[in-house]
Amino acid sequence: MSSPLAIHGGTPLIDQPAPHLHWPPITEATTAAVMEQLHRAVSIPDRSGVIAELEDRLADYFGVRHAVLTSSGTAALHSAYAGVRLGAGDEVIVPAYTFHATASPLLHLGVVPVLVDCDAEGNLDPDQVEAAITSATKAIAVTHMWGLPAQIELLETIAGNHGLHLIEDGSHAHGASVNGRKVGTFGQVSAFSMNGPKSLSAGEGGFVLTDDDEIYYRVLLHGQYNKRCRTEIPVGHPLRRFAITGTGLKLRIHPLAAAIAIDQLHSLDTWLEHRRSSAKQMIHRLRDLPGVVVPEIPASIEPSWYALPLVFRPEEADGLSIAALVSALHAEGCLEVDQPGSTRPLHEHALFSTDASSLLPVPSRRQPWGDFPRAVSLYRSTVKMPVPHDDGTALNLYPDAFGKVIHHRHHLTEACTQ
Ligand SMILES: Cc1ncc(COP(=O)(O)O)c(C=O)c1O
Repeated sequence: MSSPLAIHGGTPLIDQPAPHLHWPPITEATTAAVMEQLHRAVSIPDRSGVIAELEDRLADYFGVRHAVLTSSGTAALHSAYAGVRLGAGDEVIVPAYTFHATASPLLHLGVVPVLVDCDAEGNLDPDQVEAAITSATKAIAVTHMWGLPAQIELLETIAGNHGLHLIEDGSHAHGASVNGRKVGTFGQVSAFSMNGPKSLSAGEGGFVLTDDDEIYYRVLLHGQYNKRCRTEIPVGHPLRRFAITGTGLKLRIHPLAAAIAIDQLHSLDTWLEHRRSSAKQMIHRLRDLPGVVVPEIPASIEPSWYALPLVFRPEEADGLSIAALVSALHAEGCLEVDQPGSTRPLHEHALFSTDASSLLPVPSRRQPWGDFPRAVSLYRSTVKMPVPHDDGTALNLYPDAFGKVIHHRHHLTEACTQ
């Protein structure tokens, strides 16, 4: 700890060049799977080949009846909302603190997102949900931020008591569970992203899960028109007559992306296991550092550790600012520590705070927003970093770098006041 801070000319604690997280892990098997698919089919309009295989594997992994692949997590959310028949004038409760795509597809359906503040871990706060329910509320949408499951059992009860749909955005939480039940299986429908950094990555892609046939047919009609709808929606079903066109959107995943995701899914549980033990060790090493607040994990939940979020409190670290902390960590070589940028309180985005009707196909009433103090405070005070899924990465040294910077905090705060 005696070496001066790298930001002041000392030796950086980490000299391994970034990136320290190579994600998704691309092995020879990944390359072989993609090459094989390249020669087999690069466009699959029905539920066959690599599409059927990945959907079957996802349905097995989550223990649900239907999985539908989509071109992105955003498309999966859009499909899920359409799947439960949300439409103009309906209200959906959404977390104030999430990635915008949890809520933005609602705007394309004319649905009003009603923001509700978060709990201490950054997830939708069940205690504040009931006060936001009105006669127009049709659903509660919930994210599991950074892979830490939301208080989903309570939210399930609230949704059930009020006859609302529960819709999960599991994009941060593939394989996370609550009391042994995987997130993504609590809601009537759930949506996941498989974009680049996600725990299950296709490069780009997403999927919808549901046990409900009716939702399944509507999800297919929303973005998988013609062949899939003609073969999967039963003859005689009232929706079947729309099979050729669906609703007009085409939101299919690319077969090469599906091949990548199948390869990744084989190892997902091994990686999650490793991440859980890495996160435990990292939290142990960070817990007592002044200013650092680590997530508290109840025994009932198994996070997926998409990232390790830490709250930093300058007032408990002699006024060391979060910006100075992050700059000093970067100088120490911790280039993958960051302050989340686009994942922020939704009411701070122009799309949700100003009149965006000139951009949107369906006019939607805007909600007069409150303050969402927890979402704002968490957003301003969170730093996050990747959690290693294997040994030998410099990420394992990041807690030491936090220790070094915080130990030397007086040099940083003095530099600021001079
Ligand atoms: C919580 C959450 N929901 C939805 C999305 C959208 O997923 P995609 O980028 O695959 O459209 C993301 C993407 O980062 C996300 O983090």
